[in-house]
Amino acid sequence: MDFHEVAQRAIGDMPPQTRFRPEDAAAIKEHAELILPLAGEFVTGFYDTLFAHEPTRAVFEEGERAEREKTLTEFLAHAVNGPHNDEFFAWLAFVGPVHVVRRVSNPMMLAMLDYLVLFIMKKFHGHPKAEVITEAFIRFAATLGAIISYGYEVAWQEALQNVVGMPPALVQRMVHEEAQQMFPLRSKREK
Ligand code: HEM
Repeated sequence: MDFHEVAQRAIGDMPPQTRFRPEDAAAIKEHAELILPLAGEFVTGFYDTLFAHEPTRAVFEEGERAEREKTLTEFLAHAVNGPHNDEFFAWLAFVGPVHVVRRVSNPMMLAMLDYLVLFIMKKFHGHPKAEVITEAFIRFAATLGAIISYGYEVAWQEALQNVVGMPPALVQRMVHEEAQQMFPLRSKREK
């Protein structure tokens, strides 16, 4: 799996105005001094949320929380300070499959991206730059969601290909044909 390619393909599918842009990265970085001191509260709330819900709590092993909190704190620092280059996006494409291995579902991932956006929205409420910062985080979360969910999909496909031992193009064609049978287009259903 080529993480650079996964990231670039996911970003390429997003209409440009919905993507995380250099202006967004700059707006976030400019307010690092306000955002980074909130890391403790952000991370504690993130894991309190996950540990309070049985399906997400079940993902974690005994005694793992401290290590997870450390990783998420580092993630936030990286997200705020950058550099937001190709390496960064390729690393995000790797983060998706890391979660597949731990049976974290896409709904769990996407829900917690929403947690990130809401956290920032609430913290910056009333701040003169609230709109710019919130928008930047919305685009960040959308881009991250696109890359992670696409990375997830590719990891599944590759794992499936390895299990059934078929060439990728053939597996994709068979899955597509099967999906057409299962969910016929409305135009075909009405004929
Ligand atoms: C906003 C969504 C999320 C982000 C940005 C995020 C970020 C990360 C990052 C950066 C890592 C470390 C990857 C590495 O090894 O370098 C990680 C690991 C992990 N995350 Fe998340 N995560 C998210 C959501 C979740 C959710 C919803 C769960 C569980 C319900 C979860 C459970 C884990 C676990 C168990 C690991 C350790 C994986 C391992 O065994 O190495 N994460 N996460």
